[in-house]
Amino acid sequence: MKTVNVKASREYNVCIERGILKDAGEMISAVHKPCKAMLISDTNVAPLYAKTVTDSLCASGFETVSFIIEAGEESKNAVNLALIWEALAENSLTRSDIIIALGGGVVGDLSGFAAATYLRGIEYIQIPTTLLAMVDSSVGGKTAVDLKAGKNLAGAFYQPSLVICDPEALKTLSAQTFSDGMAEVIKYGFINRPELLSLLESDFDIADVIEICVEDKRDIVSLDEKDRGLRQLLNLGHTVGHGIERCSGYSITHGSAVAAGMVIITRAAIKAGICDNGVLEVLIKLLEKFSLPTSCDFTAQEICNAAFNDKKRKGNSITLVIPEKLGESGLVPYDVDKLLDFISGAWKND
Ligand SMILES: NC(=O)c1ccc[n+]([C@@H]2O[C@H](COP(=O)([O-])OP(=O)(O)OC[C@H]3O[C@@H](n4cnc5c(N)ncnc54)[C@H](O)[C@@H]3O)[C@@H](O)[C@H]2O)c1
Ligand SMILES: [Zn+2]
Repeated sequence: MKTVNVKASREYNVCIERGILKDAGEMISAVHKPCKAMLISDTNVAPLYAKTVTDSLCASGFETVSFIIEAGEESKNAVNLALIWEALAENSLTRSDIIIALGGGVVGDLSGFAAATYLRGIEYIQIPTTLLAMVDSSVGGKTAVDLKAGKNLAGAFYQPSLVICDPEALKTLSAQTFSDGMAEVIKYGFINRPELLSLLESDFDIADVIEICVEDKRDIVSLDEKDRGLRQLLNLGHTVGHGIERCSGYSITHGSAVAAGMVIITRAAIKAGICDNGVLEVLIKLLEKFSLPTSCDFTAQEICNAAFNDKKRKGNSITLVIPEKLGESGLVPYDVDKLLDFISGAWKND
């Protein structure tokens, strides 16, 4: 079994191995004595994996109750959060009981926020079932719900007690959801993991890829858990990507938008003379390998209007993640007035 140890405000392990869902009870009992556990999952994941996990929990002496949300981002809302609080209370969960999040980033973020707030905080375990959740959202302790005004606007930093990753679960993902996760994987390679880029070009084992990404997220989060500086590196391709998502009315998925966002920011950086030429070719080749887009139909003006009025903006300056060399990105503050000019570089051919 691959184990990545995370030392943040709480210390915990991320365990990665094929077939470990059936050992969930035993693994959880190693970090928490048997208690009442609320399993939170969604309508796609629960029919596939909830029985394996609950059977294993029962065999290890846990008493389980479950709460199933409708699959999809729309469920990551304050109404469901309140319904979970009520269900936790109705089932008499106490501070020594736990929540188990079985699903993708939606289930993980919502469950984590419920755990952070119910009785001012009870422990929770992440069992991520999408590639994005395995390599990104289940690790690092960002929990949230969406508000009408935008995504992730209410939440807490609250670390899980254990993360259990079973790559076998990825077999039932749709091709689109798998590709979306690959966009985040590719992102790590261009942030600071050149060895991941060569691995992705080969016939790789996804468990190795997950391990490298989790190690990288662990390294970044342990230096900047509360997202005040370095953690912003994880936003490579995301500022432009969010603009693309918004311009499309969210019909373009997050992963696809981040993929196109990484291409645009890399092109713009090359045009501005702050990124090596060769980076773009490797990026495009990898995105194409995993059926991700390398361009979008919106103009620089449309993307900038949509992208640069979000929460990451501080006064007149915004921090962009700029790929500088192959497998190396940096944080560069930009004057908001100069952004359109900078991003427009990506559309110029000379
Ligand atoms: N907390 C963080 O640090 C962080 C980081 C990145 C993204 N996020 C959040 O994560 C969310 C996106 O996560 P996601 O992409 O996992 O989306 P998701 O949870 O909506 O899952 C995508 C789809 O796949 C289905 N699914 C999940 N696992 C499956 C499986 N094994 N087999 C078949 N179907 C399965 C789900 O039901 C859903 O329909 C967003 O809300 C985003 O804001 C959080
Ligand atoms: Zn992302």
